[in-house]
Order: sequence, then structure tokens, then C-alpha cells
Amino acid sequence: MLIYVYNSNDNERWYKKENVIAGKKIYLENCISCHKINAQGISKWKKINKNGHYPPPPLNGSAHSWHHSLVSLKNIISDGGKSYDGLMPSFKNTLNENEIKNVISYFQSFWNNEIYNLWQKNEK
Ligand code: HEC
Repeated sequence: MLIYVYNSNDNERWYKKENVIAGKKIYLENCISCHKINAQGISKWKKINKNGHYPPPPLNGSAHSWHHSLVSLKNIISDGGKSYDGLMPSFKNTLNENEIKNVISYFQSFWNNEIYNLWQKNEK
């Protein structure tokens, strides 16, 4: 079972609980096979696989995802990794803009406040 801890500080974030709940469903249907339970990803995400590609990184704030602005996160999910020879699939034809925002809120709900605040500073 997935355990979702709703942070009391989440009310200072750009998303609402409804976004996270909707995003979780999208995550379970589209992302969990690669990015794993609770957006944990593959712990050795910095090491290229035997297939010559990077493994799916954690999206839970422990890896690199918080270096990306909301717009670039949307673009990564929409366009996938093709342009840089990555294995991240494109969800352009599967998820609409709202669904992409919701799934982002879902994995951001795993970010602690320190990471979230750093991300938000970059956003400005
Ligand atoms: C087939 C496996 C696969 C699936 C399914 C998948 N991803 Fe990925 N994802 C990857 C890989 C591999 C990367 C690393 C970059 C690359 O190779 O393109 C990645 C990278 C990312 C990144 C960039 C992270 C960073 O730290 O730079 C985000 C954000 C992301 N994925 C979100 C999602 C979301 C949201 C979904 C579901 C809607 C999803 N991914 C589904 C494999 C996958």
C-alpha cells in the first residue's frame, strides 16, 4: 500500500490536496513502473546502465528534479527524453496539461520543505 503523508505546510505550496490525489492516480497508471513506489526511482540514478542510458531518477526530492522549474518539469513530462537520447517517454498524447500539473504535485508532495523552498527560490 502507498502511504501518503500530507504535510501541514503543503498549504503554502502551489498545489492543493485535490491535485495530489488526482496526481497519485496518474502516477500509479503511468510512472510507477519506472520511477517506483513513492517516486523513489533508482538509487543509483547517476550511473549509466548497461544499456547506455541513465536509470529513472527519484522524483521525491532526493535527486535532481527540484533543479527544474515548473515549466521545465512540464516539458520533460510532455516531451520525454528523446531530444537528449533519454528513455523517459513522452506523455504529450496521453496526459493533458492539467494531468501533468497534478502528477507533478504528487511527486512534489514528497519533497520536504527545505527542498521545496529551494525550488521555489529558483522559480522566482
Ligand atoms: C519507461 C520508463 C519511464 C516512465 C514510464 C516514466 N519515466 Fe520519467 N524518466 C525516465 C528516465 C530513464 C529518466 C531519466 C532521463 C531520461 O533517460 O530520459 C526520466 C526522467 C524524468 C524526469 C526528470 C527528472 C530529473 O531529475 O531531471 C521527470 C520529472 C520524470 N521523468 C517524470 C515522469 C513522470 C511524471 C512520469 C509519468 C507520467 C514518468 N516520468 C514516466 C523513465 C521513465
